[in-house]
Amino acid sequence: VPLHNGSRDLTLDILETLEHTDPIQSSTTFPDVSQADIKAALDRLKSRSMVEYDTADSEVVVLTGEGKQIADEGSHEYKVWKVVKDSGKVSLKELPSKVAPESAKVGQGNAFKLKWIKKEGDDLVPVADTVTDSTQEILQHVQTHNAASDPKQLKDLLKRKLVTTQKKIAYTVRKGPKWAKEIPVEVTDLTAEMLEDGSWKTANFKPYNFNALGASQNAGALHPLNKVREEFRKIFFNWDFVEMPTARFVDTGFWNFDALFVPQQHPARDLQDTFYVSDPPSAGRPGPDPAADKALDEMEADSKTFSADSSKGSKLDYEQYYKNVRAVHQDGAFGSIGYRYPFNDSETERLVLRTHTTAVSTYCLHRLAANPRPARYFSIDRVFRNETVDATHLAEFHQIEGVIADYGLTLGGLMDFLASFFRKLGITNLRFKPAYNPYTEPSMEVFGFHTGLDKWVEIGNSGMFRPEMLLAMGLPEDLRVYGFGLSLERPTMIKYGVSNIRELLGHKVDLGFIESNAAVRLDKD
Ligand code: PHE
Repeated sequence: VPLHNGSRDLTLDILETLEHTDPIQSSTTFPDVSQADIKAALDRLKSRSMVEYDTADSEVVVLTGEGKQIADEGSHEYKVWKVVKDSGKVSLKELPSKVAPESAKVGQGNAFKLKWIKKEGDDLVPVADTVTDSTQEILQHVQTHNAASDPKQLKDLLKRKLVTTQKKIAYTVRKGPKWAKEIPVEVTDLTAEMLEDGSWKTANFKPYNFNALGASQNAGALHPLNKVREEFRKIFFNWDFVEMPTARFVDTGFWNFDALFVPQQHPARDLQDTFYVSDPPSAGRPGPDPAADKALDEMEADSKTFSADSSKGSKLDYEQYYKNVRAVHQDGAFGSIGYRYPFNDSETERLVLRTHTTAVSTYCLHRLAANPRPARYFSIDRVFRNETVDATHLAEFHQIEGVIADYGLTLGGLMDFLASFFRKLGITNLRFKPAYNPYTEPSMEVFGFHTGLDKWVEIGNSGMFRPEMLLAMGLPEDLRVYGFGLSLERPTMIKYGVSNIRELLGHKVDLGFIESNAAVRLDKD
């Protein structure tokens, strides 16, 4: 394997030197070779057992740029004295143009103190005929010996920033068991022929270099949305939220709309706004999702938020729940006067591409009625809306959703929670605007002041779930539930500086952009 010339020559030099000098001190034999080159060459030889070495750390003193200049040209005071002496006198005003301005400033003061020059009116005149520039002498000494003559001098020079100290590693190198004057030819591949003719027994195999970096692979990369999603998941997990199972993109009208009291003739349910699935034409009535239940059981058992005594849970009655929801729509119940229209059962059984992940939250909240207790759920997954695609809208996007159930929750508590949540994103200034959701009351749109964009941006929707929704599920009256949602695309576009959503998602995305972008850290508070 051809190495770059420098290090090939160096390995040869080391091997040859060892023939008559053993051990070698790297600092005396190779004083001008960089530490990195020495180490690379030695490691190459060591891995072949051709040399052995020990290291010793030491500190050396080296000149800074200014120190080097003084060692070469003399100190500032010397330069000042020299011009004054050579011209007999120099006016104070002219001095900075005769020596470098920084020399004029420092050098003049020092030359006065040393009584090399003095002031006569507005002029500087020489006092001494000859001078000894001891600063220059000291620095020249340091330069040749890489050391100061005593600690006090070193301290003084360090303070004046004329020298710095550097760590230096000295290598003591000896012949190894396989020392030779050259690196022998090395076999890199074991071949069928070598096995057949037995030459593998004596072949000199090249050692593996386990420190070599692998060739960079032209492999897949995480999408920026997934990177930001991971950051959000970490925030939720740190706060002991349980992740809701959101794998089913297709849900029923019941979970997506009816259980959330979206009126059956609401425009959001139009074909213009919602994608319906035509085949199969209808799902059955709501019932348990065993896969989702199993996943939730396991995660809740691991979570600190959920109390463990699930034994006292009662069996969920999906049929009764359905009747309750129907009653609220049609006649009013649980303190709600209802919409008072004939409830259409077939609407509940229509299959839809879910328009929000609140459909899943609803399923999880109903399930909580089996064993009502404080709970924290979140999800980050895809939702679908039949929208005209433009720079900021796609027909599918991702929602981040959070749900907190507890006794004695207040609206102020929700605002406080949202403040700490958005603080994690670097948004510290929030405004809340009253809004309307059929399933929360009160409801609030959340605006954040984005310092990067220097304006208020809408960042989420939130509210406290309505009693008629929770009571219909069988949850106790004093258990209150917060909910909030935001899009994943919005914060991702802001973090990656993307202004058109089609650069982030869909067929127009530049794969180079996906591959080259680093993970984004949400700003921590
Ligand atoms: N579903 C709401 C949306 O799509 C978000 C939300 C969730 C609001 C839960 C309140 C409670 O914007």
